[in-house]
Amino acid sequence: MDTIHGFRRTNYCADLRLCDVGKTVSVCGWVQRQRDLGGLIFVDLRDRTGLVQLSFGDQTDRDIFQKAASLRSEYVVAATGIVRERESKSKKIPTGDIEIEVTELRLLAKSETPPFEIVEHSDVKDTIRLKYRYLDLRRPDMQRTIALRHKIVKICRDYFDEQGFLEIETPILTKSTPEGARDYLVPSRVHPGKFYALPQSPQQYKQLLMLSGFDRYFQIARCFRDEDLRADRQPEFTQIDLEMSFVEEEEIQTIQEGFLKRVFREILGVEIATPFLRLPYRQAMDRFGSDKPDMRFGFELKDVSDIAKDCGFAVFRDAVAAGGSVRLINLDGHAADFPRKKIDKLTEFVKTYRAKGLAWTRLIDGGMTSSYAKFLTEEENKAILERAGAKDGDLVLLVADPKNETVFASLGALRCECAKQLGILDPKDFKFLWVTEFPMFEWSEEEGRYMAMHHPFTAPMEEDADKILTDKAGCRARAYDVVLNGTELGGGSIRINTPEMQEKAFQALGISQEDIDERFGHLVGAFQFGAPPHGGLAYGLDRLVMLMTGAESIRDVIAFPKVQTASDLMMGCPDVVDSKQLDELSIACTRKEASTPDEA
Ligand code: AMO
Ligand code: AMP
Repeated sequence: MDTIHGFRRTNYCADLRLCDVGKTVSVCGWVQRQRDLGGLIFVDLRDRTGLVQLSFGDQTDRDIFQKAASLRSEYVVAATGIVRERESKSKKIPTGDIEIEVTELRLLAKSETPPFEIVEHSDVKDTIRLKYRYLDLRRPDMQRTIALRHKIVKICRDYFDEQGFLEIETPILTKSTPEGARDYLVPSRVHPGKFYALPQSPQQYKQLLMLSGFDRYFQIARCFRDEDLRADRQPEFTQIDLEMSFVEEEEIQTIQEGFLKRVFREILGVEIATPFLRLPYRQAMDRFGSDKPDMRFGFELKDVSDIAKDCGFAVFRDAVAAGGSVRLINLDGHAADFPRKKIDKLTEFVKTYRAKGLAWTRLIDGGMTSSYAKFLTEEENKAILERAGAKDGDLVLLVADPKNETVFASLGALRCECAKQLGILDPKDFKFLWVTEFPMFEWSEEEGRYMAMHHPFTAPMEEDADKILTDKAGCRARAYDVVLNGTELGGGSIRINTPEMQEKAFQALGISQEDIDERFGHLVGAFQFGAPPHGGLAYGLDRLVMLMTGAESIRDVIAFPKVQTASDLMMGCPDVVDSKQLDELSIACTRKEASTPDEA
């Protein structure tokens, strides 16, 4: 094996072009492919920028030629040579017009045959990819994504710096912040029986920084949440986290719009329209059945409860009588795309959202078929279709349920599913909006109590402030989410900044005075020393990268992600530790895992 001593790289592989012909250059990287044609050897050399062809022929020194003959995929080499115009050019790669006629070659490291080929868009199983993540990351698409992620962070730092924000780090070993998920705990050696919590977000610290007078703060903050993983969730993820003093919603939102505008312009060359639409939560639910509506298409929800409330179809009538509703979407112009069999599949789809069925009317070729029309009067049927704006060629889909949440959840998801099946979702069409006026609280069936919809530091809307203890369901918050194409990209709020209101908010959540003192005494206490009005927001950086790259999974935009079971398959963690470590921490394990989880 050779050493790198005395070798200096002059160029990245993919930077070389026809204008470099005649120059002596030095490149290094990994062998993508070696083709030995007897008297001629070609090697595609890859670095993080892409490929360049090295050539070896009659003119090549025999030792170097021999060395080139021994090269295999993923060997690491350094080569010096003269850039030549290729005889047979390739249009497939940007350096396809040239090659490097090698005059010096060093073999820096050998490689075993990798468990998968290092190529773009590999369809290798995720478990294998993640076990050998360091190889997976060599693939050009992963290299591009990780570089793009860096660029977003760089623009973020530049932009917020220009806007007068200071980047301030907050602790990783901290106390539990109630952000709605379980905490990751870290045992203390020095305080046996006591634990730190890893931050679910820097929420309380950033608010305290406002108290300290750093009136514009931001941080690229690592957050930890022990929650069930999904395609857009990881147990540790990164937020672009910000907070500002002496501002209201409008100013915070305008600064964020400027940031997003710049990121999309500089990275994708896309001009996004600002200001974004502001849509109150109630309207978002009524029109789209979702608090993160995808605005790239219509199919809006319509409420027909008033028409259906006394009808002859018990499913509709009873749903309204029980306080629920009957709502519909009209897949206008798409009746022909959804024959009966497909509607049956859609019925199964809404059932996964707890709907009990899917009623439908299909208007096609001047005729009408319907799953429910026979139970209704002519007027009722006509009124429903009128409300739907239905005409020939349309398909109207209805869900009735005693629980409005079920109607919204199922129709909201159905609208997106149908758009997906119709192939009308353009990933390059970016439709942003702010969803505002969120409810302060939401009822948790699981906990049997009201929980903070955003977090307990969010201020109520001024006109609803007196409802905070008396009308929890009707109390709205000064909270807002920035939504892009059906994904919640970020969320924030104007915060409470008086001890009185903060105590009320905790009381409304059923937190005892003792618990308030113990868990939040530092915050409520701090509010007694001049807390400026403040508010902020946090973006999911990983989600932003996902949407900008079109990645299907959050794992594809994180260098070293975890799988569904929250394990890191490459490092093999979480893992057991030796008993000495546990003793030092005064920890005894009462349960052991049966086997190492390894499914993706
Ligand atoms: P919130 O909990 O809404 O707000 O989080 C803000 C954003 O972080 C992203 N996010 C996640 N991304 C990946 N994996 C996860 N498990 C995950 N959880 C959240 C989402 C989300 O919009 N402190 C408040 C912000 C504030 O009020 O300023 C907070 O954390 O994109
Ligand atoms: P049935 O008479 O039970 O076959 O129902 C008639 C139609 O109503 C079928 O298309 C069912 O899928 C549909 N349906 C049943 N329950 C509901 C519901 N809760 N909401 C909407 N449609 C329903």
